[in-house]
Amino acid sequence: MKTVAIVSRKGGAGKTTLAVHLAVAASIKGKEVAIIDLDPQASAAGWGDSRTTETPAVVSAQAARLPKVLETAANAGADLAIIDTAPHSETAALAAIRAADLILIPCRPAILDLRAISDTIDLVNLAKKTATVVLNAVPPRGSLADEAVEAIASYGVTVAPIKVGQRAAFVHSLTTGLTAQEYEPEGKAAEEIQQLYKWMCKQLKM
Ligand SMILES: Nc1ncnc2c1ncn2[C@@H]1O[C@H](COP(=O)(O)OP(=O)(O)O)[C@@H](O)[C@H]1O
Ligand SMILES: [Mg+2]
Repeated sequence: MKTVAIVSRKGGAGKTTLAVHLAVAASIKGKEVAIIDLDPQASAAGWGDSRTTETPAVVSAQAARLPKVLETAANAGADLAIIDTAPHSETAALAAIRAADLILIPCRPAILDLRAISDTIDLVNLAKKTATVVLNAVPPRGSLADEAVEAIASYGVTVAPIKVGQRAAFVHSLTTGLTAQEYEPEGKAAEEIQQLYKWMCKQLKM
């Protein structure tokens, strides 16, 4: 089983959005997927409750239980675990970072968000791991994304080659327990997630 942690000390960066979209992308490809929601606000778990299908499995857990929960998922035959985290719990973020084969830091291409990622990168460094920033909610026009890539490079972390746009389908789909791929399969949001998922699989060698 491969494990992906989605972390950012900044609320609203897109952790839950990416977690559920990447999980469904894997499910669509026939993978057994578990989303592990470490956020006490339980947004991913709530989304899971509002789904009419059982896949992907969504489990709400506490950081201290993470190794055990991952072991249970692996024993149950999961191919992939995606850990969604809370912005304000350093303990939970560190637990997720330590457990992960791949660490993704969603970040909006805006100055306050870019400044805030140094906190998240410090945690990754503390665990002696490396992470990749995924630019999220990138406006369709303008140079914000390019400027963000430059700013992130100065922190010494890489940026994923696939950027996720600011798109209504990401918002609307979640309110009905779906993801963009299910809500609007031919849309741009679905296409971006498909590309990001492909890139993620390559990183994970799966
Ligand atoms: N790419 C995107 N396009 C449009 N809205 C987005 C996008 N990513 C996130 N959002 C919206 O931004 C808000 C915060 O996203 P969320 O995934 O909950 O962030 P986090 O889990 O990091 O706090 C939500 O309302 C979500 O629908
Ligand atoms: Mg969240």
